[in-house]
Amino acid sequence: MLPSLVLVSLLASFQPAFAATAEQWRTRSIYQIIVDRFALEPGAVVNECVLSEQTWCGGTWKGILKKLDYIQSAGFTAIWISPVNQNYQGPKSAYGDPYHGYWSADISQLNDKFGTADDLKALSAEVHRRNMYLMVDVVVNNVMATSLTPDYSTYMFKDAKYYHPYCAVDFSNITSEQQCWLGDTKVPLPDLNTENSEVIAKYSDWISDLVQTYSIDGLRIDAAKHVRKAFWPAFAKSAGVFCMGEVFDPLVPYATDFQGSDALDSVLNYPLYYALVAAFTLPGAQNMSALIDNFDQSKTGYSDTTVLGNFLENQDLPRWHNLSVDPQSLYNAMTVTFLTEGIPIVYYGQEQGFSGAADPYNREPLWPSNYTNTTSYQLMTTLNQLRTYMINTTDWATQKTNVITTNQNGIALQKGEVVSILTNIGAPPQNFTYTALKSPWPQGTVTIDVVGCRQFVVASGGYLEVEYTKGGVPVVLAQPSSLNGSGLCGSTMEALHANTLPGQTVAQSSALDRAVVPSLIALLLMAASLGLW
Ligand SMILES: *[C@@H]1O[C@H](CO)[C@@H](O)[C@H](O)[C@H]1NC(C)=O
Ligand SMILES: *[C@@H]1O[C@H](CO)[C@@H](O)[C@H](O)[C@H]1NC(C)=O
Ligand SMILES: *[C@@H]1O[C@H](CO)[C@@H](O)[C@H](O)[C@H]1NC(C)=O
Ligand SMILES: *[C@@H]1O[C@H](CO)[C@@H](O)[C@H](O)[C@H]1NC(C)=O
Ligand SMILES: *[C@@H]1O[C@H](CO)[C@@H](O)[C@H](O)[C@H]1NC(C)=O
Ligand SMILES: *[C@@H]1O[C@H](CO)[C@@H](O)[C@H](O)[C@H]1NC(C)=O
Ligand SMILES: *[C@@H]1O[C@H](CO)[C@@H](O)[C@H](O)[C@H]1NC(C)=O
Ligand SMILES: *[C@@H]1O[C@H](CO)[C@@H](O)[C@H](O)[C@H]1NC(C)=O
Repeated sequence: MLPSLVLVSLLASFQPAFAATAEQWRTRSIYQIIVDRFALEPGAVVNECVLSEQTWCGGTWKGILKKLDYIQSAGFTAIWISPVNQNYQGPKSAYGDPYHGYWSADISQLNDKFGTADDLKALSAEVHRRNMYLMVDVVVNNVMATSLTPDYSTYMFKDAKYYHPYCAVDFSNITSEQQCWLGDTKVPLPDLNTENSEVIAKYSDWISDLVQTYSIDGLRIDAAKHVRKAFWPAFAKSAGVFCMGEVFDPLVPYATDFQGSDALDSVLNYPLYYALVAAFTLPGAQNMSALIDNFDQSKTGYSDTTVLGNFLENQDLPRWHNLSVDPQSLYNAMTVTFLTEGIPIVYYGQEQGFSGAADPYNREPLWPSNYTNTTSYQLMTTLNQLRTYMINTTDWATQKTNVITTNQNGIALQKGEVVSILTNIGAPPQNFTYTALKSPWPQGTVTIDVVGCRQFVVASGGYLEVEYTKGGVPVVLAQPSSLNGSGLCGSTMEALHANTLPGQTVAQSSALDRAVVPSLIALLLMAASLGLW
């Protein structure tokens, strides 16, 4: 081989890995993917994907690679993909086939349903070429079986001595949660004995190898709460990358327990999810106190709120629109996940307004949506752009969220240079004005709502008010000087800036829609009719 060809082939096989830390992940924004359901390879036969069949629909790692533009164009800087390791190989179980990837068997191998080792390496390389991170979901707590006495010879851990003996989980007993078997008698999930030193050593080698072979930048750890906490630090050290654990529980104290030097870098913010459901779903409890309560408990409970994983949907929960069809309830709650402390996570399909109930109806194929540039997609794009710009230009990533005011139907939050004014009144126009919003800015300060590209001028005493005569849209304010160069609201910012009249609150609401230009014209006409200039 000619030396130059050697060099070329060396370069071609070189996988730049970020092996990213918690500090690096803090600035990221994650798009979560169920590999089987996100994208088909170009030219693949499109079969109907019947969710109740609980079987494969054809998505692959190569399919994801070809659709990264769709993710990156919305401003996401990382992807989290469902488990990549080999799963249960037998006939269809009582709950279908392991299309989701969570039914581990021989995890020393890859899952060939989703592609080859080279396909996964190519995806990793392309993600890195785009300066994005790759997070891979791993299942450590358990494997899957179809009987209580499985033949372990086909698993990576090949002997019953590596597993806890069977018992059904008693969810009121933490030892039972960590040592008994999840699942049920039809599809039991044999629980690894993570106290066993051979299991610990083998897992350590396995994760180190997996991370290095595929240049993985972070891990999402399934059922982290179901493994004794003391197992995690050494496992995470072997992985050498950021680890975010699943602690599926509404209570803040459970979640906080699994974050820290004696556990994992981060956890998925389930308590925030439940609080957002309580505060924003329509119909729903409309309980803003639940959100305040969550912020208060989080502030003192977690060792680091800025790396928590904030989400509204995932593969285990009903879609937001299954709980709440109102589009504005989604937009307002989603704004909280992006603009408070933590790493925003969007589950594929959230941007397409999917509305399936819990498993298996929340794992819709994405391709029938045609990957449309929807209103939700545009809102995420805006929120990602604002957040990343603030991270680039200020210490946003480590800044804390302050609650400015709250009432039954609204909450105003400040983080750094940004004030988010959110409401749970929903899409129908209402005669509701959110008043007594004491902004951090002096009278006359001009601010821009980056969601609606409208101007708000701070009134006397530093107060702002928002009218919802066109429905309960999220309002996200920052001063033009803090947005300079962000590309947000484009030239409209200059146009609005030219028409400033200090001391005046311009507080019209427009529905969050694509018609920025018509609504801007309407705004200017309204301002003209009010004699604002
Ligand atoms: C909790 O579960 C463990 C494991 O199954 C069991 O040994 C223990 O007796 C249980 N404790 C109580 C109080 O039920
Ligand atoms: C609202 O949430 C708070 C805090 O979590 C809780 O104490 C209260 O009971 C809830 N109120 C209603 C009506 O659900
Ligand atoms: C919730 O999901 C179930 C099952 O997919 C569906 O029948 C129901 O219509 C959904 N509800 C809403 C409000 O979309
Ligand atoms: C996607 O495109 C197909 C073919 O053009 C069309 O039939 C379908 O209605 C589109 N789906 C959506 C959600 O726009
Ligand atoms: C989505 O539509 C908006 C509004 O037309 C546009 O600004 C944006 O560039 C589009 N995004 C993509 C990825 O096409
Ligand atoms: C943030 O900085 C990165 C790295 O310099 C750059 O690629 C990206 O375009 C910036 N994004 C925004 C929204 O400012
Ligand atoms: C809106 O509410 C205000 C204050 O409650 C009231 O004075 C006003 O008449 C209402 N306007 C409409 C159109 O209902
Ligand atoms: C934005 O930046 C440009 C060039 O750096 C400057 O001329 C302009 O005054 C700035 N605009 C605002 C609103 O700060």
